[in-house]
Amino acid sequence: MKTSNTLWAGLCAVVLLFSHCTAPEKKEDKTNIQKRIAMNKLVKDHHSYSAPNESRVKHLSWNAEVNFETRIITATATFDLINADDAKEVIFDVKDLSNYQITVDGKESAFQLGEDNNLLGRSLTIPIQPESKQVSISYETSPEAGALLWVDGEKPFLFSQSQAILARTWIPCMDSPGVRYTYDATVKVRKDLLALMSAENPLEKNDTGVYSFKMDQPIPSYLLALAVGDVEYRAIGDRTGVYAVPEMIEAAHYEFQEMDEMLVEAEKLYGKYVWDQYDVLVLPAAFPFGGMENPRLTFATPTIIAGDRSLTSLIAHELAHSWSGNLVTNSTWDDFWLNEGFTVYFEMRIMEAVYGREYSEMLALLSQQGLISENEEILGGDNPEDTELKLSLEGRSPDDGMTAIAYDKGYFFLRLMEEKLGRERFDKFLKEYFTAHSFQVMDTERFIDYLMANLLSEEEAAELDIKAWIYGKGLPTNMPKIDSDKMVKVDALAASMADNSDVSTLPWNDWKYQEKVRFLSQLPEGLKAPFMAKLDATFDISNIGNNEVLFEWLEQSIYRDYDTAFPRAEEFLVSVGRRKFLTPLYKAFKETGRVDLAKEIYTKARPNYHSVAIETMDELLK
Ligand code: BES
Ligand code: ZN
Repeated sequence: MKTSNTLWAGLCAVVLLFSHCTAPEKKEDKTNIQKRIAMNKLVKDHHSYSAPNESRVKHLSWNAEVNFETRIITATATFDLINADDAKEVIFDVKDLSNYQITVDGKESAFQLGEDNNLLGRSLTIPIQPESKQVSISYETSPEAGALLWVDGEKPFLFSQSQAILARTWIPCMDSPGVRYTYDATVKVRKDLLALMSAENPLEKNDTGVYSFKMDQPIPSYLLALAVGDVEYRAIGDRTGVYAVPEMIEAAHYEFQEMDEMLVEAEKLYGKYVWDQYDVLVLPAAFPFGGMENPRLTFATPTIIAGDRSLTSLIAHELAHSWSGNLVTNSTWDDFWLNEGFTVYFEMRIMEAVYGREYSEMLALLSQQGLISENEEILGGDNPEDTELKLSLEGRSPDDGMTAIAYDKGYFFLRLMEEKLGRERFDKFLKEYFTAHSFQVMDTERFIDYLMANLLSEEEAAELDIKAWIYGKGLPTNMPKIDSDKMVKVDALAASMADNSDVSTLPWNDWKYQEKVRFLSQLPEGLKAPFMAKLDATFDISNIGNNEVLFEWLEQSIYRDYDTAFPRAEEFLVSVGRRKFLTPLYKAFKETGRVDLAKEIYTKARPNYHSVAIETMDELLK
């Protein structure tokens, strides 16, 4: 596979070169070049039924109508195809779609649906000829479509979450990260709502309720996104801005002021931002993630609006994906660390550039703390091999790969190279890596080849122990050390706490949120409810506006039997759907013998959650 990939890439490069030659007889037909590049052999993705080496989509025209009453999207997806010379069929991924009507080049066509699989959905196979140009699929989504969350209200809201393999629940598609295509769309919605996509977006509502979209750069299916709601836009800089509901637009505009500076710093580090516009859409609190890097329009949880711009590292992260992930894309979900590890590394560099090293080191310390504990947990579980950077998720949900390993082990591996080789050398390498592989896929093996050809000598690779980092379980002993005097002080203070301590002398109000989180997480085990009550009375932590601190506080409160905070925990669990917060809190209730309370809260909260959160909590509380 590896050699043939390189071969194909090589071939394409040669073809491209020749296309610029002057001798006309040596010129290859332009469409042929396009075709060869587009057919650049892809490795098999076990999370997609599609067969892109036989017939591949290159453009999507999506025409849709969104119905909030029935919770159904009725749509037609028209795809332009590029086929291999012997192509007989084109295969799409679909899940819970219905009412198909299909044409090939305008003529009604037969089609075949494969067996329904819980995880992958089904294949939709359409017979074609090698010269077939276009297939058009009319269909309807299910009210239970896994990607979509319909939020009720006087002004209802709809948003999608396609990553990793949920795009197929709202658009029939080749749902594999290696298949990229451009798209345009026309979407009809209620007249009092605005529609937005991962594309060139409207700035305000119009009175037809019909909106047009265009994405001229090819993207993989997992970056297809749609949101519909009563949202407004406010610009931040020339290329940046924020969308939010009217009640939140002011606060969001304030919170994300530094976005423009982040973009400038990001470009200084690893090259030009190629997507023109970078906006953030603040979603309802039910959004199951912190952020999602939908091109041109990051989707974000409102839980990062703290009022003091303290949680903007999430924006730096999603912005960084504009290079790592959206430009250079993991080949399959087994290579997820190439998306996320690189992005955490880039995120930390942006944070350092904008807020200083002291600040970013505190973030790095929290990331290392989380990594060490999750690594232990995974090593002690059923799939210890999930602590390897290169995953094998065949037959399992790609979601299983969304752990601190891809994110933070990936980050520390890259940071180790930076530290050992020097920043200058490493930055030059990374910048070239992004440029050389723009709009292409990358897998772990090709990355290692590239690393060895462009950065490391054999001796350096051996010294860094790159094989242990990538293919070994757990955390290598040469993991970088964090240098944060501030956190050392916090640790000492936390360790010194006792039931009779005078907490009013703690520098709580001077601390950055990272120090608060760290302090709460490092308190001696024996401190229980009385100590927590004292902290709460002194600093009113149960009412803090920073959700990262609140989350840590609630988790500690449960483990330390501080039941005064339980109603606050319940309120939080019912109103927030961000899985990173939900899982540890329900788990804490469960582990402290309060599974009944956990289930009671979950019963109330579940109708508000997105399918990806429901899946995890159902499993946890079954
Ligand atoms: N792309 C991810 C979110 C994702 C990954 C969704 C895999 C579905 C499957 C996004 O960039 C992300 O990593 N979000 C993090 C925030 C970040 C600051 C670590 C999150 O939501 O917690
Ligand atoms: Zn990410």
